[in-house]
Amino acid sequence: MTKKEFIGYLDHAIDDYASEKVLSGTFEVDTAQYLAEKEYNELLPEGNITPNHHLLNILTDEGKKVGEFWYHFDPENQKKIAYVYDISIFPEHQDQGYGSCAMLLFEEEAKKLGAKRLDLHVFGHNKVAWHLYHNMGYIVTDINMSKNLEKAE
Ligand SMILES: CC(C)(COP(=O)(O)OP(=O)(O)OC[C@H]1O[C@@H](n2cnc3c(N)ncnc32)[C@H](O)[C@@H]1OP(=O)(O)O)[C@@H](O)C(=O)NCCC(=O)NCCS
Repeated sequence: MTKKEFIGYLDHAIDDYASEKVLSGTFEVDTAQYLAEKEYNELLPEGNITPNHHLLNILTDEGKKVGEFWYHFDPENQKKIAYVYDISIFPEHQDQGYGSCAMLLFEEEAKKLGAKRLDLHVFGHNKVAWHLYHNMGYIVTDINMSKNLEKAE
């Protein structure tokens, strides 16, 4: 991503992240935006050129932009873990295989950089992402569970 593309990415990525955190019950509605912005700023202090963070456009073979990808890999880290912070396929291009393709390309690139393991986080309510990762061989490492007593009968 160029700096301009990164600014465009942040515009919707922070909103999406804040909404997901509210949906999962981790953030309160009134502070979600502030907390989401804070996390992004802390993780990416130098924006799209923050060292070891890869902020990428997902393009078709014809060069059409269909989504965005963000991962981290520190070659000095002993565990050699590449971490997917975000993958998003624009709504009009979803369910056409682009997400799976992007994850495969990421895997190839991470291997070339020396990664030995790929990690990511997925919200329990995100059935599509859950299905995609499971299909690609990712296994569950830990699960947080919760029961909302206001909604439970
Ligand atoms: C998650 C996301 C990246 C997947 O990208 P995509 O291009 O739609 O994914 P693909 O088309 O490669 O694969 C989608 C898979 O989900 C399946 N799927 C579609 N709707 C589903 C549903 N409601 N429940 C379960 N699986 C579903 C599809 O059948 C397909 O599986 P298959 O290959 O076994 O047929 C995309 O939906 C997205 O950007 N979502 C919003 C952002 C997001 O949630 N990002 C993930 C953060 S962890």
